[in-house]
Amino acid sequence: MNTQLLKIAEKFGSPIYVYDSEKIITQYDRLKNAFKGVKSLKLNYAAKALSNISILKLFNSLGSGLDTVSIQEVKLGLKAGFAAESIIFTPNGVSLQEIEEVAEMGVQINIDNLSILEQFGTKHPKVPVCIRINPHVMAGGNTNISVGHIDSKFGISIHQIPLLLRIVENTGMNINGIHMHTGSDILDIDVFLYASEILFETAKNFKNLDFIDFGSGFKVPYKTGDIETNIEELGEKLSKRFNEFCSSYGKELTLAFEPGKFLVSEAGVFLAKVNVVKQTTSTVFAQIDSGFNHLIRPMLYGSQHEIVNISNPEGRERFYSVVGYICETDTFANNRRISEINEGDILCFKNAGAYCFTMASNYNSRYRPAEVLIHNGEAHLIRERETFEDILNKQIEITI
Ligand SMILES: Cc1ncc(COP(=O)(O)O)c(C=O)c1O
Repeated sequence: MNTQLLKIAEKFGSPIYVYDSEKIITQYDRLKNAFKGVKSLKLNYAAKALSNISILKLFNSLGSGLDTVSIQEVKLGLKAGFAAESIIFTPNGVSLQEIEEVAEMGVQINIDNLSILEQFGTKHPKVPVCIRINPHVMAGGNTNISVGHIDSKFGISIHQIPLLLRIVENTGMNINGIHMHTGSDILDIDVFLYASEILFETAKNFKNLDFIDFGSGFKVPYKTGDIETNIEELGEKLSKRFNEFCSSYGKELTLAFEPGKFLVSEAGVFLAKVNVVKQTTSTVFAQIDSGFNHLIRPMLYGSQHEIVNISNPEGRERFYSVVGYICETDTFANNRRISEINEGDILCFKNAGAYCFTMASNYNSRYRPAEVLIHNGEAHLIRERETFEDILNKQIEITI
């Protein structure tokens, strides 16, 4: 694999994101398999994790649905070939107009606040709507990605169910789904199951449901020895409970998820070249041809991406601080054991499939990286590196 990655960096340049379709397919099948105990399962891949159109096409070919948070993601999904009915729109804080536009396209709407629910229900009582509940459960690996607790801006509070029901009754709207998403990087299955009970309890209030959407948040290992969500155990326990619920509800519902990280995180790596090895009085910096403009997760969430020197994998290990070239502190790793680094070496950042390229920016007027997909053993360029024209694109020069 290292040889192939080095060849890709040589051919397409660095920095570059590389994804492996085989790993994506393995994770998709693993999740599907874990929930084989339910009659109807729908996996809606969360486009926000990695939204390159070729990746979306891959998910469509697997039979996946698509979870979207903006009208632009919806349009990308449609362009990638997803049927409108296979797309769910789960925005937060967007305008009524955007929701109406998406509903018009035939996409499943998921509403997460009472104000929009009332307005939408009044104007379009016939359009089926899913409701995002906030179960008030503290789950997730970092405060920025814990979204189901009481102080979170997401979802309709379970304490507001009476008002929610009054709106539904008064508008005569059709609620066909109930949804929650408690946060990313959930370790404790019991917390997930506890939140699910709250969702089941809420679901009993609605007579015409077609599906219950449990969101996502499955944790994947980021470093050696890291714990991951035990998806097989969760699958067994939740499927059993879901089937019991369906029996008491009197209808075979669809169990839905919208995973991002679980499906694409481990399938991606980020390759960057070492520009400078800089010895200071306190550390040795390896400075790469990138920065938090290309991979912001370590600075944003404190996430740890394993880093391997694929140019010298067998070299003697030394301690390095891996940093970027941005004009602010942009640390990828501190005091990390990496095999000896020389200028020009290619470093490989693992788990770079999810929330990496999609969060990249042009800060410092740098180009966003290229993207490659290894599919059937072959490396395909799926996004060209930007050029200076892209930096100027849409800027308007006035006469000064
Ligand atoms: C509503 C919703 N669904 C799904 C996801 C995907 O979560 P993950 O990447 O942890 O699977 C997110 C992530 O932010 C989300 O906000």
